[in-house]
Amino acid sequence: MIVTIKPMPKNISNTAYDLVIIGGLGHVGLPLGIAFAEKGLKVCLYDIDKKKGEMVRKGRMPFIEHGAQEILEKVLKEQRLSVSLNIKDISKAKYVIVTLGTPVDEHLTPRTRAFLDFFESVRKYLSPNQVIIIRSTVYPNTCEQLLRMLENGKQWHIAYCPERITQGYATQELRELPQVIAGLSDHAIESASALFNMIAPKIIKTSMGEAELVKLFSNAWRYIQFALANQFYMISQKFGVDYERVRWAMKEGYARAANLPSAGFAAGPCLLKDTMQLAAFDANNFLLGHAAMMINEGLPNFIVEDLKRRYDLTKTKVGILGMTFKADIDDIRDSLSYKLGKILRFNGADVYYSDEFAKNSDFVSKNKLMEICDVVIVAVPHSNYKGMVIPKKVEVVDLWGVARGGRNSIQQLVGIKKPAKNK
Ligand SMILES: NC(=O)c1ccc[n+]([C@@H]2O[C@H](COP(=O)([O-])OP(=O)(O)OC[C@H]3O[C@@H](n4cnc5c(N)ncnc54)[C@H](O)[C@@H]3O)[C@@H](O)[C@H]2O)c1
Repeated sequence: MIVTIKPMPKNISNTAYDLVIIGGLGHVGLPLGIAFAEKGLKVCLYDIDKKKGEMVRKGRMPFIEHGAQEILEKVLKEQRLSVSLNIKDISKAKYVIVTLGTPVDEHLTPRTRAFLDFFESVRKYLSPNQVIIIRSTVYPNTCEQLLRMLENGKQWHIAYCPERITQGYATQELRELPQVIAGLSDHAIESASALFNMIAPKIIKTSMGEAELVKLFSNAWRYIQFALANQFYMISQKFGVDYERVRWAMKEGYARAANLPSAGFAAGPCLLKDTMQLAAFDANNFLLGHAAMMINEGLPNFIVEDLKRRYDLTKTKVGILGMTFKADIDDIRDSLSYKLGKILRFNGADVYYSDEFAKNSDFVSKNKLMEICDVVIVAVPHSNYKGMVIPKKVEVVDLWGVARGGRNSIQQLVGIKKPAKNK
């Protein structure tokens, strides 16, 4: 099962691998493993996903990660990266990095128990001689709980170094972003810092509590910013004004408004989940977090309610352009496009899906979608939708302001992005 054979000149330990990544074929684990392998380390990606394992062994990225394909081929060829489906291999490295998913449950509370149970089930393959680095986003105090669980009279070394990349761009961002590092022993902090120093421009050492909050605050901050933009959008729509034009006018020469985002679906497996982890941690007193959830999750409903004012949806064909959770990737996890489709169908509409990257035999091409639908909703601003011309007969709902043409748009002024400067 193991592909790596040759010993590596830069091996930093006397074990079979320098590091093993648990969950190593995921969106965080794989680009991270490739980044360390590119720096000359001997990396083992441990995972349970056979299909992705086969793809990666053959040198094919199992998902879109911009800039990774070429480096993957290179590090495989140089035998610095290997894939393992055998749990015993986690014993064979000095460093164990954990990039498992950490979802919330149906009550929006963190599934901390499942994360700790995983370690309980594999503890016999781990040892105090290793440095365990948690890269997954965790509920505060999870690392301390893990330490207590592992302790058997010996000193274990646990560090936390949260991943902060934006999905699809890890290859570039791992080279640019500072790494926040905390640990539960001096050895853990120093070893994790030395390791990440190989790929990162800067190491920021913090306490464990600080690092845990850095990660959750970062995602909650973004989620709230998007919610504010979405609420502004809804207010503008109800007032008959184009939010994109308001945003443009606000930002023009006015630095204090420069970071105001456009409206759009704030979706995916992290932002909502981490905002809810923080809400649970604050005993559901994180009112802004819950308000952000209501606004962001309510945007599909707002769009449907608005359409219902003008259409009998039972007689309307509605197309959704973009099914991924954000632009220019192929990941549909927790995409709000599906929620939008569901609400439209519930209201009787005939709904068609299209995407540029996510593959599904039920999807139609964007041209077909525009040809057959009465209304087209641009749900994701994939770069090849930019400047796309929607036929005049079609109503377009374009939150992002990327398309041109169409009629009776919810934005009312689609196609006119910026008024002339002297107006
Ligand atoms: N996706 C992102 O852009 C991103 C960014 C920052 C932080 N994070 C955090 O990183 C963590 C991982 O997220 P992700 O998006 O990479 O998830 P993912 O689902 O893409 O990857 C998780 C991997 O773990 C594997 N796995 C599941 N159970 C396993 C087991 N028992 N043993 C071994 N492998 C197992 C899966 O097969 C998968 O390959 C989460 O905590 C997430 O919040 C993600």
